[in-house]
Amino acid sequence: MIKINDVSKAFGQGAGSVVALDNINLTIESGKFVAITGKSGSGKSTLLNIVGALEKPDTGYVEIDGENLNILKADSLADFRNKKLGYVFQSFYLEPEFSVIENVALPLLIAGEKKADREEKAKIMINKLGLFDKTSEKVKNLSGGQKQRVAIARALVNDPDIILADEPTGNLDSANGNEVIEILRQIANDGKTVLMVTHNLQDANVADYKITLKDGKIIETT
Ligand SMILES: Nc1ncnc2c1ncn2[C@@H]1O[C@H](COP(=O)(O)OP(=O)(O)O)[C@@H](O)[C@H]1O
Ligand SMILES: [Mg+2]
Repeated sequence: MIKINDVSKAFGQGAGSVVALDNINLTIESGKFVAITGKSGSGKSTLLNIVGALEKPDTGYVEIDGENLNILKADSLADFRNKKLGYVFQSFYLEPEFSVIENVALPLLIAGEKKADREEKAKIMINKLGLFDKTSEKVKNLSGGQKQRVAIARALVNDPDIILADEPTGNLDSANGNEVIEILRQIANDGKTVLMVTHNLQDANVADYKITLKDGKIIETT
């Protein structure tokens, strides 16, 4: 379970300061697919980054399965992120010169797993995402949809409980975008929590819950 407690965040100082999140409270049950929607600048990415322990809130805290992210030390936090969370971003953040299997196995390398185990687990995920024939291909030679499937395979390879996706269809055409949404839906059906930021309402409608942000506040939950 993810609990967001009184989370606020501002950027900048004094007159130029922007409130990105204004006292957010939200509980997300395990195994649900939740979409965060709202216009550009409404605070969606900031909220996702705080849940993903990539940014710290100014006030309030996020609790994941009873663990308060604010009080975890840097080492434990890095470990927590690696094992518990999988990240999928609009611009993929893959290593273009590395092969598909090298990209997918990267979190396992960081986790200190042995080469044979890394390759076995990465291959299972690559097959699962339908990329078997691309296993040794450099990522730079793949289409956008294929790249996003590599990114999802990488996010899943450590078997995390939570997948965080920021505009995962933002750089894809609608056919590839729909495929990615279907994959995320399946991941939630398999029991993982999926938290997805999107400004695409059609994508958001596939989720179990839709949270709408405006000016850093939750204005609607459906
Ligand atoms: N690193 C940053 N530095 C300064 N302002 C930021 C930063 N990140 C976000 N903001 C501001 O915070 C607000 C919310 O941004 P963001 O969370 O990226 O919104 P969204 O993802 O909904 O488009 C915006 O006004 C944005 O300009
Ligand atoms: Mg954003």
